Amino acid sequence: MKKRINTLVLMIMTIIISANVMKTSTNSSNSYMGSYNNLPDSIRKMMQLRVQEIKQIRRLIISNPDSVKALKPFPFYFSSGIPSDYEFISQAFFVMDTLFYKEYLALYKQPSVETFNRLISICESCHNTWCPGPLRLIKRLYITTN
Ligand code: HEC
Repeated sequence: MKKRINTLVLMIMTIIISANVMKTSTNSSNSYMGSYNNLPDSIRKMMQLRVQEIKQIRRLIISNPDSVKALKPFPFYFSSGIPSDYEFISQAFFVMDTLFYKEYLALYKQPSVETFNRLISICESCHNTWCPGPLRLIKRLYITTN
């Protein structure tokens, strides 16, 4: 009888804890955040989401860089996803991914044309090495100031 009650208490606690975790993880302020709620597992899909996010950030940087500070970054490493081709999974890829992530956080912390363009230059270097297809799209993301 006692064991049964213990199991019941444990179950209720698990439900309460997981409900709270779900509540905090869906508490987002960015409009594109909704798409992250079901974080997909392929690198391609992750890229597509980052591209959407970066395009929105780009618009904000052009109109009002400080407004980016009100948004929360959404942390994940591309290398945590499933690649369409395992050939590019290497030590160098992890290094580039880590660098990207560091600059991604820096962009949210200090949004400016400079931090934005620095992030895009990492998209470009990585793509130069492993995936030249989207390079044209990436080059168009740079913000040019005169
Ligand atoms: C660490 C390396 C790396 C970084 C940094 C990186 N990418 Fe990628 N990206 C890849 C690889 C590798 C693929 C191919 C993934 C696959 O096919 O599994 C890819 C795929 C893509 C795709 C194609 C998605 C599709 O629909 O097929 C786009 C677009 C893209 N990246 C844009 C970007 C942009 C924009 C950035 C910067 C904000 C960026 N990438 C940063 C490595 C990177």
